[in-house]
Amino acid sequence: MVRVSRRQILQSSLGAAALVISPRLSLAETAEGILELTAGPSRQALYGEAISDLWTYNGNAPGPEIRVRRGERVRVRLRNELEELTSIHWHGIRIDNAMDGVSGLTQDAVPPGGTFDYDFTVPDAGTYWYHAHNRSWNQVARGLYGPLIVEEDEPVFDREADLTLVLDDWRLNHDAVLDTKSFGALMDWSHGGRLGNWLTVNGASRPAFGLEAGKAHRLRLINAANARILAIDPNRFGARVIAYGGRALAAPERVAYAPLLIGPAQRVDLLVIPEAGQDFAIDEVFGGEAFPMADFVISGPGSEAVAEISLPQIALPEPLLEGAKTVRLHMTGGAMGGNFEIVYKGKRLSGQEFRDTGQVWAFNGIANLAEAPLLLARRGETVVIETVNDTAFPHAMHVHGHHFRILDRSGSSADDGNPWRDTFLVGPGQTTRIVFVADNPGKWLLHCHMLEHAAAGMNTWFQVS
Ligand code: C2O
Ligand code: CU
Repeated sequence: MVRVSRRQILQSSLGAAALVISPRLSLAETAEGILELTAGPSRQALYGEAISDLWTYNGNAPGPEIRVRRGERVRVRLRNELEELTSIHWHGIRIDNAMDGVSGLTQDAVPPGGTFDYDFTVPDAGTYWYHAHNRSWNQVARGLYGPLIVEEDEPVFDREADLTLVLDDWRLNHDAVLDTKSFGALMDWSHGGRLGNWLTVNGASRPAFGLEAGKAHRLRLINAANARILAIDPNRFGARVIAYGGRALAAPERVAYAPLLIGPAQRVDLLVIPEAGQDFAIDEVFGGEAFPMADFVISGPGSEAVAEISLPQIALPEPLLEGAKTVRLHMTGGAMGGNFEIVYKGKRLSGQEFRDTGQVWAFNGIANLAEAPLLLARRGETVVIETVNDTAFPHAMHVHGHHFRILDRSGSSADDGNPWRDTFLVGPGQTTRIVFVADNPGKWLLHCHMLEHAAAGMNTWFQVS
């Protein structure tokens, strides 16, 4: 259904998208080494000339690209010019707990007019992103996010051949501007989340990027959508995957089972070595129909052989399954979820209370943060989390502060090189086990990154002492 309306919007425009020239993201400006990120209202055309009212960092969605070298220090002053509380989370970074940006768990939310200084180092190279982490279902959907790129010690790609593509799925109304009336609709919260009807790349509709024939390019795709799982087929344009969730594979890999799904908050890095004259598009292909997101225009005659690319991998202590602490996370609720019981703030919900509280999903029967953590780990302990999806929807589960590996999916082992990750998709009826060494002290969130699901209950936490 969403497909149809997206298509309608597409068809109602004058032959669809105009070509934009290389909408590169701006590099973050720093004053005295501190980057100012001001969260505030701004205006931006998402579709044609229609101007949407957004909330953004420094006046644009996505916000400025923060690009640093591995091991560097990042200092950001968040200035809140919104009319509601906010904070920033650095998604996928193994960060000091106090800098994780989770309102109400790791810091107090920043009030309107207030500031907060973030100061942390980035231990691992890769493609990450930052986004608001207070009422995220509202703030991220309005544009409060941006890319955070951590380069390898020695750059592997030429700077101009290393491109960031932030993908977002917006819900536009009949005037082709951001539909703000439908924020918080229980229909979205209890189903697949807030799905949009228009896709942008770096805030633009179907932009075009210039690539050089015969040269190795890195395309860093970041799914910043609230709820939409994006599907692409890299085989269509001869691309190989070099990183999942920002973290490098041992060698570039062809996708064996296309399409490749990129869940909310997930990233995929692609290696493309274009052939002379072979312009291509990256299409979104969920449901089989191709929707072009971005065009790539190839220039130059190309050269002969390109050296094989290999990226340094993140070296972390491997988890030891023997003696690991195992917890089960049973996901229930939502539309078509059968019978379920939900305890919220210590009270069992019934009837109208689901509507009144907006709580319709649960982990182990509890909606939103239980008083006690899901799990209490000693520092250095190996943890296995077994996620059982007993709902009718897929979910994108995100672990804060740690990288994990997928142990198995419904009994079969991972087939994609199994790099470290921070977010995984779990389909309806599926069980996925992840494993990691709990070595980062503090209180960490574990939640569904379909932001309406998180708001409607799919949120818990664990503690590493
Ligand atoms: Cu990307 Cu808890 O968030
Ligand atoms: Cu979910």
